[in-house]
Amino acid sequence: MNKPVETVFLAQSSQSLHSSQSSQAAGSEKWSEERILGIKRWAPQLFSLRTTRHPGFRFVPGQFARLGLPLRRDEPDGEVVWRAYSMASASYDEHLEFFSIVVPDGEFTTRLAERQIGDSLRIEKNSFGFLTTDRFAGGRDLWLLASGTGVAPFLSILHDPQVWQDYENLVLVYSVREARDLAYSKTIAGLPQHVLLAGSRARLHYVPLVTRESVAGTLSARITEVLADGRLEARVGVSLDAAHSRVMVCGNPQMAVDLRRQLTERGLQVGRRGKPGQLAFENYW
Ligand SMILES: Cc1cc2nc3c(=O)[nH]c(=O)nc-3n(C[C@H](O)[C@H](O)[C@H](O)COP(=O)(O)OP(=O)(O)OC[C@H]3O[C@@H](n4cnc5c(N)ncnc54)[C@H](O)[C@@H]3O)c2cc1C
Ligand SMILES: NC(=O)c1ccc[n+]([C@@H]2O[C@H](COP(=O)([O-])OP(=O)(O)OC[C@H]3O[C@@H](n4cnc5c(N)ncnc54)[C@H](OP(=O)(O)O)[C@@H]3O)[C@@H](O)[C@H]2O)c1
Repeated sequence: MNKPVETVFLAQSSQSLHSSQSSQAAGSEKWSEERILGIKRWAPQLFSLRTTRHPGFRFVPGQFARLGLPLRRDEPDGEVVWRAYSMASASYDEHLEFFSIVVPDGEFTTRLAERQIGDSLRIEKNSFGFLTTDRFAGGRDLWLLASGTGVAPFLSILHDPQVWQDYENLVLVYSVREARDLAYSKTIAGLPQHVLLAGSRARLHYVPLVTRESVAGTLSARITEVLADGRLEARVGVSLDAAHSRVMVCGNPQMAVDLRRQLTERGLQVGRRGKPGQLAFENYW
């Protein structure tokens, strides 16, 4: 199995945890108890977790899992808080990886942020969601538009070798407030050299946007603005239209509303039963 390109996780050996302590499926429960293998802190309010993976856990890149933590640490069998989390790891990785914000006073994220390597968390055995490329038909270019942690499902999709064969251009647009929030930049830069992706048909275009600072090499405006004024297409050198483009949007719900309006005006549509479209959205709150 291939490891993701970013290897700077503070990590415990997955071998030792896999053999002894991982994947405690609680009888016929719909969740399993998994262990934290590694933690990467990107910024004070952003971190990633690697966990063990139940052997029965399957997902399509772009889907999410439901993670659970006890409300009270001293009552591990008491009330549990559950939240949706996109898989950031490849579907073929032995581990799972999640990329998380810490919401001030957030019921789940303040608890998740306290977890250490070797601690456990619950993961439902089923995966969910429709932010997957199989909902599209045809298309030359895949546009992945993310705000904040909404980049997570796109990291998983961009590790899928099939996507690199199906499209000519893969465009990742990643909007954050400050430069320090731009996580996974080494992983993204390394994708074209990844052992499973090198030599594929697609070309990767990475467009980072930093909206509250001026940073060299990035655009200093929201996705909605650079789409509206043409800077996004000019930067990539590819036009965004219904004939050639398939567009996924993930993260901030107001951004999704605004982008939906802009893209619909360009003739792109969300698919309906039996009629594939060109748009797919996932709101994080
Ligand atoms: C399908 C789906 C997939 C998700 N995947 C992820 C993921 O991969 N990573 C992740 O960090 N979160 C993800 N979320 C959000 C996640 O489920 C929780 O909302 C988040 O962890 C905060 O939980 P909380 O209990 O601390 O705060 P909550 O009470 O759940 O949220 C409080 C407020 O915090 C803000 N907020 C919540 N989540 C985010 C976020 N991700 N970024 C910025 N502001 C936010 C919103 O204003 C929200 O109203 C996803 C949500 C959905 C519906
Ligand atoms: N990121 C931080 O530094 C930080 C620090 C402390 C707390 N928090 C907490 O984290 C949460 C927000 O996290 P976040 O920064 O990851 O998410 P966010 O507020 O959704 O911002 C992420 C990116 O999306 C952009 N965006 C927001 N609304 C948009 C819209 N309608 N259309 C287009 N683009 C839009 C933002 O641009 P703009 O910058 O123009 O809004 C930013 O570039 C809040 O609960 C906040 O309290 C964040």
